[in-house]
Amino acid sequence: MVSVLDFAAAARAAVQPHVWDFIEGGSGAELTLDANRQLFDSALIRPRVLIDVSICDTSARMLGDRVPAPIGLAPIAYHQMVHQAGEVATAQALDGTPMIVSFFASRTLDDIAGAATGPLWLQLYWLQRRDVLAGLVKRAQDLGYRAIVLTVDAPRIGRRLRDIRNGFGIPPHIKAANIEEQLMESTYQADGIAAHAALTFDQTVTWADLAWLKGLSELPLVLKGVLTAEDAALAVEHGADAVIVSNHGGRQLDGAVPSLRALPEVVAAVNGRCPVYLDSGVRTGRDVFVALALGASAVFVGRPMLWALATERVPDLLTLLQTELENTMALAGRPTLARIDRGALWS
Ligand code: FNR
Ligand code: LAC
Repeated sequence: MVSVLDFAAAARAAVQPHVWDFIEGGSGAELTLDANRQLFDSALIRPRVLIDVSICDTSARMLGDRVPAPIGLAPIAYHQMVHQAGEVATAQALDGTPMIVSFFASRTLDDIAGAATGPLWLQLYWLQRRDVLAGLVKRAQDLGYRAIVLTVDAPRIGRRLRDIRNGFGIPPHIKAANIEEQLMESTYQADGIAAHAALTFDQTVTWADLAWLKGLSELPLVLKGVLTAEDAALAVEHGADAVIVSNHGGRQLDGAVPSLRALPEVVAAVNGRCPVYLDSGVRTGRDVFVALALGASAVFVGRPMLWALATERVPDLLTLLQTELENTMALAGRPTLARIDRGALWS
């Protein structure tokens, strides 16, 4: 396992083809899915030389917690799809790395908290049933979760052609462990998550509703799925404590701007008022470096975490990403995260 793509190859051999398609796929023609990667690959670093790089410190703070590197695990539905212990296995492997637990987690918030070796944040989709949201936020706060993450790019689920062609539904023995069963029935039919969202998500939600969610707890509120300066400014005005620049790994609006392209305008609009994180397409420590150079405070990885979990190698994945970041810092002449600035990239 010397490259993150080695984890993909191992995982592909270990999971059913329809599950693989669900994990790997994007929406529509997968234009955004592909563009996410192209942009990272075309970024060029401007290395500086004759700088003391004997110690390169990757450690960072994310929402107040000390973390080994500015890298977290993105929320991913149903970890049990690739590993019997699901989110509990992932949480056990964190060693300080923050993990965003999905609304569709297949293990309970309690079990995940009991196993976790790093800070947990809870991700929500906005349901019509606000009592369910309020209950989740309260449980998360009681269990010591560190933040609430509202995913704002999914009022409904994107058209994922692979899943539609495969007639993919969530395998019936895998449950969204934190949502009452009756709300989840539709997920087991073909195109299940989309059907579920169409029935249960609240598509009428607007900026004005955020105050209600914020008022449910003391926890910081993070908005995931911001891709424009306009929405970044609105997020800060409505009290967001951080934003995640994300196109949901190319699974929602096909043709949406790659996260890396959107990052500079979001960073400019936020103007230091809260941290700006990024996900969608991060596959190497070099990618982390590039995102930081463009103003991200930290990044999240999605699919690579599932690849690693499928073969019980989450610790190896995290170590590899941290090692690659540290190595990039050394060879680029930026021994601290603070020195990874715009000048570190060729424009
Ligand atoms: C996701 N993502 C996601 N996002 C979210 O807010 N809630 C969720 O439940 C899920 N579930 C989910 C399942 C699967 C299989 C994938 C691949 C993705 C999106 C995820 O949090 C993140 O935005 C992307 O995965 C980031 O892109 P990369 O790192 O996968 O390229
Ligand atoms: C997905 C949903 C669950 O991306 O967010 O599959």
